Amino acid sequence: MTDDERAAALETIAGEVRACTRCRLHETRTRAVPGEGNPDTEVVLVGEGPGMHEDRQGRPFVGRAGDLLTRHLGLIGWDRRDVFITNVVKCRPPENRDPEPDEVAACYPYLQRQLEALDPALIVTLGRHSMARFLPDARISRDHGTLRSVDPATGARRALVYPMFHPAAALRSPDVAHQSEADILAVPAVLLEARGYREPAEPTVAESASVLPDLAGGSAAETPAAARATVATVATVATVATGATVATGATVASALREELVAATVAVHPAGDPEPDPADQLTLF
Ligand code: URA
Ligand code: SF4
Repeated sequence: MTDDERAAALETIAGEVRACTRCRLHETRTRAVPGEGNPDTEVVLVGEGPGMHEDRQGRPFVGRAGDLLTRHLGLIGWDRRDVFITNVVKCRPPENRDPEPDEVAACYPYLQRQLEALDPALIVTLGRHSMARFLPDARISRDHGTLRSVDPATGARRALVYPMFHPAAALRSPDVAHQSEADILAVPAVLLEARGYREPAEPTVAESASVLPDLAGGSAAETPAAARATVATVATVATVATGATVATGATVASALREELVAATVAVHPAGDPEPDPADQLTLF
């Protein structure tokens, strides 16, 4: 799919969502919230459903939870316009109640089509309901900050999913806020892992070994493959198997904190053949 075709497909879906009456949530909404962001992104963030502010503006994550999400992205040097942000249900449940299973089922095809069009490398779920669409058996308290492969039936052909707490939960609890911060700090490393999953050029032992002394000496990893090898080695990631945990955010985050002073990974448009390593990863 070309960039224009991708943008057009997303606009078609958004138009259908705005006019949708497939479930009872359309009766109480002010505006449906299809989602927004960069059509060429590698990363899709999926929340639960619009709240009051989102319902008024027709845009995702524009209230207090959205402010925190935007701030979290800022911690890793990302702007919300770099990614695509959407929700499992596109219309606000009254009084912000949890969406009912039939509402989720009615709305899910829109998310599925968005994922088909976007073809992301990484899906970050925000909260339990979103996580449950991708990892039915997962538990947020146990599985946040871990990385797994995505069932292609979700619409995402070849992606990894990384569950995070909902930012609203982080606003309520300092402990969750702390864990959310650790989880978001690992996202750049997790994106490298997801890129490696899409282009399965497994780092060789020799590559990994040659990267580590560089890292210890404080110099930069030179190629994306070397960068991946570094991350894979630091995170002690072996393989990506369907449904298997491949890395935990806490592991990656603490490894990054210990081994690296800072790591910056920019989000590149999907289909960008081989991003310039110089702007892809900075280790210093
Ligand atoms: N919470 C969500 O889950 N989604 C939004 O868009 C806003 C708040
Ligand atoms: Fe349609 Fe989804 Fe809104 Fe229900 S929540 S009316 S399925 S767009």
